[in-house]
Amino acid sequence: MHRPVFRSVEMDDQRAPIVIVVLGPPGAGKGTQSSMLASLLGIPHISVGSLLRSYARDENEVGLCLRGVMALGNLVPDTLVLDVLATRISEPDCARGAILDGFPRTLGQVELFERGSLKSPCHSDSSTEKLVAIHLRVQNSTIVGRLSGRRICSRCSATYHLETHPPRVKGECDFDGSALTIREDDRKTTVLKRLRLYEQQTLPILSHYAERASLLEVDGEQPRENIAQEIVTAIQSMLRIFIPSPKNVQSTLEDNL
Ligand code: AP5
Repeated sequence: MHRPVFRSVEMDDQRAPIVIVVLGPPGAGKGTQSSMLASLLGIPHISVGSLLRSYARDENEVGLCLRGVMALGNLVPDTLVLDVLATRISEPDCARGAILDGFPRTLGQVELFERGSLKSPCHSDSSTEKLVAIHLRVQNSTIVGRLSGRRICSRCSATYHLETHPPRVKGECDFDGSALTIREDDRKTTVLKRLRLYEQQTLPILSHYAERASLLEVDGEQPRENIAQEIVTAIQSMLRIFIPSPKNVQSTLEDNL
């Protein structure tokens, strides 16, 4: 099995890789916020759910297994998730880190991820990656409304909401004009099951990050723009990095949300 390794940045670039872990229940806005943060930080947004959905389309044993597990709202086995993620992380665009949307989701995944070491063999100890885990807190009643109105582009996976973030043309993606679809696991009974699994399997991870002083708690009930601004401000102070001036943050938000 592959191990997740964030490769070294260019030899003349001493900046440590940045890893942002985005946690929260289904529909909390992980994908929405991750996509915006990726633009601001200049590191890729890796949605583990989207990666798994792309493997699920394959007509092979893995694809068949993933389709069955995901349609029912169950969690994919840890080793398979780590394998898929490791393959993605080994791509050159992850040299400076990544935004991990929806990973880790179990204590087992935390352990595998940390045991695999995020450091590249090229990195000295002083350039260990900087990690922040963001927890988007949202009530269950909000989640059901968000997921029942969610629509996804069938080609590029851009996310919309029928009421709060509709496409410019009904049923069509703003970016490529492809048809918008409903995710199979957004049916109400499946959403309730995903929520139960989140509470059982993923919530315990929060204390792990809190103990490492890496946890950022965010009220995910606010408007998208306010959440994004709050995250950017907090990340700057937690990681001691500079992210664009407020004006640039605002224009990036307008381009992405
Ligand atoms: P995944 O695709 O990651 O699903 P999820 O975690 O359930 O999260 P969602 O994608 O449903 O929601 P989100 O939080 O990204 O919200 P979004 O921004 O879209 O995983 C799917 C499946 O893959 C899992 O069930 C599992 O089977 C498998 N899997 C994935 N990772 C795994 C792992 N690590 N281990 C094992 N299995 C794994 O927003 C939702 C809606 O709300 C949108 O319509 C959006 O426009 C709207 N919205 C967003 N923010 C706001 C806001 N502030 N105000 C109003 N509306 C908003």
